[in-house]
Amino acid sequence: MPVLYGGRAVDLTPIRGHLAGRGIQIVEDAAHAFGSRYPNGTMVGADPAVLTCFSHDPIKNLTTGQGGTIVPRTREEAAALRSLRLFGIVQSKDARASLTSYEVQGPGMRFDMSQLNAAIGLAQLERFPQTAAVRQHLWCTYQAELAGLDGIRLVDVDVAKTVPFNCVVLLKRHRDNIFLHLREHDIGFAVHYPPNHSQVAFSAWRRDLPVTGQVAGRILGLPFHPSMTHDSVRYTVAALADAIKATS
Ligand SMILES: Cc1ncc(COP(=O)(O)O)c(C=O)c1O
Repeated sequence: MPVLYGGRAVDLTPIRGHLAGRGIQIVEDAAHAFGSRYPNGTMVGADPAVLTCFSHDPIKNLTTGQGGTIVPRTREEAAALRSLRLFGIVQSKDARASLTSYEVQGPGMRFDMSQLNAAIGLAQLERFPQTAAVRQHLWCTYQAELAGLDGIRLVDVDVAKTVPFNCVVLLKRHRDNIFLHLREHDIGFAVHYPPNHSQVAFSAWRRDLPVTGQVAGRILGLPFHPSMTHDSVRYTVAALADAIKATS
């Protein structure tokens, strides 16, 4: 089964045995993928061989305002994560309310989610089926409106299996002037993402990735939010077409 890395599926099947043999755990970055399925139809997060992490920041499919979820595979893993997220303490906050002491079992951090954030997430979770359907519908609306527009190619998604987190197009030429033009007109286009291999943090391992370098300058994220309407999609697509003309 493919594993998500930065939201894209990578098939690690050929090296899974090797990784397991060396005691290496696979941690799956499913930041964008809440509610989506792998190509074989299994829900993301249900692969028993990987530790899946979802992000719930404000623009993600399921938001808690800030925070995320790790899907443990065993009770032991769940207990270890609970303890790691709060100073290495074994007892839950609830249990500690009726205790005069607690046990610190090992190292831990202050990574627990606030109750306020969790309450936002629970309310969002209740309406998630509607949110998912709206996101899929919005993406299909963009797909229909963008069809046939010269110089704009939609970056494809299997929308039947995906709850889209964003909607990205690939332009024929460099996008920066187009982006600036749109921002000047107060339309919230964005870039997801600058390529990792060009980041200072990775300079020690830097090598040329010509295709990535070329595509990175031509991608553009369209405004994408479940409260958008068909009219706002039409407006956005028309503005993009105008910006391409105005800057060519
Ligand atoms: C691909 C990817 N991985 C991880 C993260 C980090 O998520 P968080 O900010 O919730 O830790 C993000 C955030 O946008 C992301 O886009």
